[in-house]
Amino acid sequence: MLPIRTLQPSDSLLELTDLIHRAYARLGAMGLNYTAVDQSPEVTAKRIEGGQCYVVEIDSKLAGTIVVKPTYRENECQYFTRPGVAAVHQFAVDPRVQGKGIGRALLQACEGWAQEHGFRELAMDTAEQAEHLIKLYARLGYNHVGFVQWSGKVYRSVVLSKPLR
Ligand SMILES: CC(C)(COP(=O)(O)OP(=O)(O)OC[C@H]1O[C@@H](n2cnc3c(N)ncnc32)[C@H](O)[C@@H]1OP(=O)(O)O)[C@@H](O)C(=O)NCCC(=O)NCCS
Repeated sequence: MLPIRTLQPSDSLLELTDLIHRAYARLGAMGLNYTAVDQSPEVTAKRIEGGQCYVVEIDSKLAGTIVVKPTYRENECQYFTRPGVAAVHQFAVDPRVQGKGIGRALLQACEGWAQEHGFRELAMDTAEQAEHLIKLYARLGYNHVGFVQWSGKVYRSVVLSKPLR
């Protein structure tokens, strides 16, 4: 059983942001300017606001995180404004412990949260060049439902969603 818990006020946003930077460095090296590549702790906090942030702690250090948010009233991604759709963001596992099932467990925690809160789908987006992630999400039940062009991003994103039951 993985030690997944919700982010607490006593957790360091600096430590959380460092973890997110380490995880997204590979995407940054691919030339993909995801916000998470270099976001400030203030942006990390803003992206958590209004949602639920889960973390995994290993040896007293943050080793994984994800945020799930309810349906947006307004968003550049139209899909995220659809009734019954929740969305996940800043999904990161420390590169030293990737591939051990932590990501899958974090995503499951978000699916559980979304179901408990009455959502019918859990959506996400990622750069269309990040084929390894699109494949991973497809294996986990996330279907391609559209595209979004976020302002300021050099890539187009694929929108993926999983029906919850
Ligand atoms: C994506 C990420 C959060 C997944 O976390 P993780 O703990 O490594 O994932 P898991 O160990 O639970 O693996 C889940 C599945 O993804 C696969 N997987 C994990 N990392 C992978 C990678 N880099 N390439 C291809 N497949 C990968 C695993 O094999 C597993 O599939 P399986 O269960 O069918 O064998 C993590 O790799 C990460 O932080 N990556 C960098 C940041 C990132 O890409 N974030 C998402 C942006 S949209």
